[in-house]
Amino acid sequence: MCGIVGYIGNKTIDKELVDGLKLLEYRGYDSAGVAVLKNDKIYTTKAEGNISCLEKILKNEENATVGIAHTRWATHGKPSINNAHPHISSDKEWAVVHNGIIENFGQLKNDLQHNNFTFSSETDTEVIAHLLQQLNCEDKINTVIKTCKMLEGSFALAIINKNIDGTIYLAKRKSPLYISLNNAETFVASDPICFAGKTQSYYSLNDDEFCEAKIGKLIFYNLNGETISKKPIEMTDFDIKIDKQNYAHFMLKEIQETPSILKRIVQTYKDNNAFDKINNQILKNINKIILVGCGTAYHAGLVGASFIEKFAKIEARCFVASEFRYNDPLIDDKTLAIFVSQSGETADTIMAHELAKQKGAITIALTNVLYSSLAKKVDFIFPICAGPEIAVASTKAYTAQISILNMFAKHLCNVRNNTNFNFIDSLSNLANTLKILDINCLEDISKELINEKTMFFIGRGLDYFTCEEASLKLKEITYINSQAYPAGELKHGFLALVENGTHVFVIATQKALLDKTLNGAHEASARGAKLVIATQFDIPKSQLKDIYKIISLQNFDEDLMPIASIGAFQMLSYLTSTKKGINPDQPRNLAKSVTVE
Ligand code: M6R
Repeated sequence: MCGIVGYIGNKTIDKELVDGLKLLEYRGYDSAGVAVLKNDKIYTTKAEGNISCLEKILKNEENATVGIAHTRWATHGKPSINNAHPHISSDKEWAVVHNGIIENFGQLKNDLQHNNFTFSSETDTEVIAHLLQQLNCEDKINTVIKTCKMLEGSFALAIINKNIDGTIYLAKRKSPLYISLNNAETFVASDPICFAGKTQSYYSLNDDEFCEAKIGKLIFYNLNGETISKKPIEMTDFDIKIDKQNYAHFMLKEIQETPSILKRIVQTYKDNNAFDKINNQILKNINKIILVGCGTAYHAGLVGASFIEKFAKIEARCFVASEFRYNDPLIDDKTLAIFVSQSGETADTIMAHELAKQKGAITIALTNVLYSSLAKKVDFIFPICAGPEIAVASTKAYTAQISILNMFAKHLCNVRNNTNFNFIDSLSNLANTLKILDINCLEDISKELINEKTMFFIGRGLDYFTCEEASLKLKEITYINSQAYPAGELKHGFLALVENGTHVFVIATQKALLDKTLNGAHEASARGAKLVIATQFDIPKSQLKDIYKIISLQNFDEDLMPIASIGAFQMLSYLTSTKKGINPDQPRNLAKSVTVE
């Protein structure tokens, strides 16, 4: 959460910084700010709200040579101008932007206050600015290193000093930070997407590494203050231009991209099958597979665990990363652990990985971002090939994740049981025929939902997991209190909440469970629920009278139906959100990349 940008060069600094921030807005949009250095003085501009609010008041300082900027997702202190970054030391010599959480900031703040430092914000970050002043010495990078030694928690920092022109000091622990340069300019960012089209390669700071960044020159240091050398990473993956094209929102564009992403997955895994590394040699020692993720990635893991048990007959369980970490999970060197994360930057997922590694597990990242912190730590990477996902609500990444997990489960079966599943062809068939549902058929339902306060999704087996994901999508971007229930659990609480006219969405794509799911749905309808059924089956006439609407799904093999059915609900959430006047790309209080616990 929070995005950092830095720029040294001869272009209009404020503009360069704001252009960078716009690409990082997915990391938070509670407030934004810039600090630039001009004539030995630091000038800051800050605004509450997203980057466009900052852009309106920017002065576009001429003759500034260096600047840092920040887009904030509030952790300590409400979204306000005072709490917006950059934060400035009392003597106005230092300015700092920060992504992460300083866990010992309470103690540090007390100590600084005893030494007569006064605070103008409620943030944890402000302690860093004052510590820089307190520990200031001639050698500025040394001051930065000494300051960071006092900090506990996570941080990516970009810092400028009013007396040192043309330099940005950088520090990193547990939060990502990247640097890139060409002959005339140096760029800093929380995500290398900001460098696309500007440079050919970039550097990634590791934990407890530091950098003194200047034009044409980067000097890297370790925690002892010794210089270290680092290799650049080629930028080939980032030449993708991030724009909405003609779509009203990124979310709509990303939902519509799904069929082409599935085709890309087919091609990528055909050309270079990442599963091949999980061969008999590895599998003969494995007696359990776990999947770990947060939010949508957790839901993808639930589907994946079910696929693995069904096809490969290997015990598989999925965990929410934040719970996994504190429940002393029973894993060892016979465990294969799959960490599902679109961004590869989710703090809980990364920490869960650390624990799994300590316990000896073999680890895989199922991720969209091959340069991410998670990708750097795992034994194997399964790329999800979804391209940049910008909207806060994950859509195409989910569909990509469950598609790959479907194929992987069949791969495991082939390796373990000598079967001959042609999993690439089955996905290819789906990719070539899948259509994103016609918007018109969902329009009417979305119009009805805008006034709803509560609604439900029910389903069994794989459909229940789709319900969980559909319900999360709706909550995130419409603010409707939506809940998913296993369709067999209705009598254990759910029915007490059903009122006349309550919308209940029934997802029914598994033939063997159809009758039982419909029985539950009719019980809800008898209590006044409006039933909307999403299915590929013809519902028997005798059952139709209770059903308010049917969303007709395309017919694929049942194990592929989670891939085919979720699009309808992503779209329904999108339509409802926009009708409520909400920006689905930036729902309140959320951020795309959850890089703090
Ligand atoms: O980048 P990750 O997949 O690790 O992100 C996990 C969750 O933060 C993410 O899925 C979140 O729940 C989305 N906003 C869901 O739409």
